[in-house]
Amino acid sequence: MTEQKKTAVIGQPIEHSLSPVIHNFWINKKKINAAPYEKIEVSPNNFNKSLDKLINSGYYGLNVTVPLKELAYSRCDELTETAKKTKSANTLIFKDGKVHGTSTDPVGFEVSLHKEIIEKNIKNKQCLVLGAGGSARAVVFALSQMSADVSIFNRTQEKAVKLSKDLGISANVLEEKDIKKQTGSFDFIVNTTSLGLVPDETNNLVDFSLVQKKAFVYDLIYEPKESSFLQQAKANGIRFQNGLKMLIGQAAAAFYVWHNTEPSHYSELESLLEKL
Ligand code: ATR
Repeated sequence: MTEQKKTAVIGQPIEHSLSPVIHNFWINKKKINAAPYEKIEVSPNNFNKSLDKLINSGYYGLNVTVPLKELAYSRCDELTETAKKTKSANTLIFKDGKVHGTSTDPVGFEVSLHKEIIEKNIKNKQCLVLGAGGSARAVVFALSQMSADVSIFNRTQEKAVKLSKDLGISANVLEEKDIKKQTGSFDFIVNTTSLGLVPDETNNLVDFSLVQKKAFVYDLIYEPKESSFLQQAKANGIRFQNGLKMLIGQAAAAFYVWHNTEPSHYSELESLLEKL
């Protein structure tokens, strides 16, 4: 019998990660010869030592989540173009004595979007990205690949300038006062900030009464299912989506990297995750 592939997600905190539910769902459905996918707490201070240990104990691949994606990127011997551009690695594979890394976050974001939204609200359209952290890098990269005209607003403006420069795109970096003036011109607005993750925290970065009714609003947050940001879009009759499909999309791409087979049963998985 060939050895079972060992995979896991590493990060800190890791307790609430949904990745094991997703990967184990597909491992079972697709009858993959793999050990159950695990979650392992790894602190940024011990990143390299912990990774060595995991490699030596026979892991075949790892997903990497907050706050380790940049460290993982720095540790890789081989990187895909996407990982190089976004300076981030969320999927590692250990083979030929090397650490190979990619980032499946941009493709996860792209596949989470309905084709009609890409055509009508993103391609050659005005898109506003809120935030300039790790998730924003993936989203801005994906939007620019979809030929969007990207504007970025971040509390710390220099980070938005740097993000745009690093990705080699000419995004429009906004100041807070510009947002109000330009709100009505956006066809797509996506929140990548962590505002709204904590109960009772409200994301007031956009005045939704100024947003066009044909616009589409996206929040990467999926817990709560309807963040304060999405609730405001809903109250103003604007279509919206949370980050659950992106979470599934990035996992699907990682699953393909390790197991060389397309995952399946997406709707069943989505219902399962929504019930957790
Ligand atoms: P992630 O990997 O999830 O993107 P991150 O890299 O820590 O996490 O980025 C968090 C993002 O949320 C940043 O854009 C951050 O803004 P700063 O760059 O100014 O720190 C944004 N953010 C976090 N708390 C915020 C708040 N209270 N108001 C506005 N933006 C906030």
